[in-house]
Amino acid sequence: MNYSDRIKTFEIKKNPLILGVESSCDETAVALVRAGREIVSEKIISSAARHAEFGGVVPEIASRVHTSAILEATSSALGAAGAKIGDIDAVAVTKGAGLLGALLVGVSFAKALAFSLGVPLIPVSHIRGHIAAAYLADKTLEPPFITLLASGGHTAVIAVEDYYKVRVLGSSLDDAVGEAFDKVARVLGLSYPGGPSVEKLAREGKNCVPLPKMLSHYDGGEFDFSYSGLKTAVINYVHNCEQKGLAVNKADVAASFQRAAVDVLVDKAIKAALNSGYKKIAVSGGVGANGYLRERLCGLAEEKGIHTVIPEKKYCTDNGAMIGAEGYLQYLKGNFADLTLNAQAVVPLGGE
Ligand code: KG4
Ligand code: ZN
Repeated sequence: MNYSDRIKTFEIKKNPLILGVESSCDETAVALVRAGREIVSEKIISSAARHAEFGGVVPEIASRVHTSAILEATSSALGAAGAKIGDIDAVAVTKGAGLLGALLVGVSFAKALAFSLGVPLIPVSHIRGHIAAAYLADKTLEPPFITLLASGGHTAVIAVEDYYKVRVLGSSLDDAVGEAFDKVARVLGLSYPGGPSVEKLAREGKNCVPLPKMLSHYDGGEFDFSYSGLKTAVINYVHNCEQKGLAVNKADVAASFQRAAVDVLVDKAIKAALNSGYKKIAVSGGVGANGYLRERLCGLAEEKGIHTVIPEKKYCTDNGAMIGAEGYLQYLKGNFADLTLNAQAVVPLGGE
């Protein structure tokens, strides 16, 4: 029987060990996840340092690093779990969104592995993966809840109505919040990746640089965001100071930007949790690693009686475990791909 025919006959096991594979950007990440909630082992090999001198991810470098790292990462995760390759019950892989060349490495690897082991191949949306990271952080978490997605590619407030149905309440109409952090870091001459550098410098600064209130210049939806105006205001402020020969207090700029960028995320997530009546907020995406965001959200949510689920920092940024967690949900539905599976640069925000 060929593989396409076999996928109709795969048995759904009770506590499957799923290998999650993530290669959408600069992290080659794999994890062995048991029944969608338990991380058995994992390995993340990052090429971030290789991109630093270019001030951003260079797609070809990312793809080449994935090619050489993916087998090592998988062997390492199997070794740490004391598992054999034949113990893998299914292979889940990020199909998109992301850098096409980078995604193709993970997709091709996952296809070859699933085919050779004769196990299901599960395509996973990167965004759904970020949402599913919350199930690893809080093993008792069940929908419905609100997800605040804040990454380098996306900014959104999402209602997770059940394990399979999500509704995007609002999203960024231009730049993603992580992208704004990265651009502001570049203007301030900070190292890549920008988010952690801005956060570190902001700790030494004060919120005293006047920056515009978001969405003051157009009619966005209640839960929409706009970061391009804020980013431009920071760039203009720095350039104006330079032209006038005034010293720029970079720490104050970082603190003021961070506050303007984060407060609106927190406010809208809380509003969505109250409006929906769900009273639970999960954070996902790289900007969720930001200490100011974590503190502010926890503090304000507690005052309102809202439960927060904030994954450990390494599960906010890209990782294989979140792909294994979402892969498990798709596994239960039998949403398997055949060997024609391809990578997608763009996947709709709420799409599976
Ligand atoms: O989710 P992620 O790892 O990749 C995707 O975009 O899918 O997010 C990366 C983004 C980058 O823009 C990075 O600067 C930002 O998350 N980031 C942070 C922090 N750590 C990572 N932004 C603010 N504060 C941080 N501590
Ligand atoms: Zn991501």
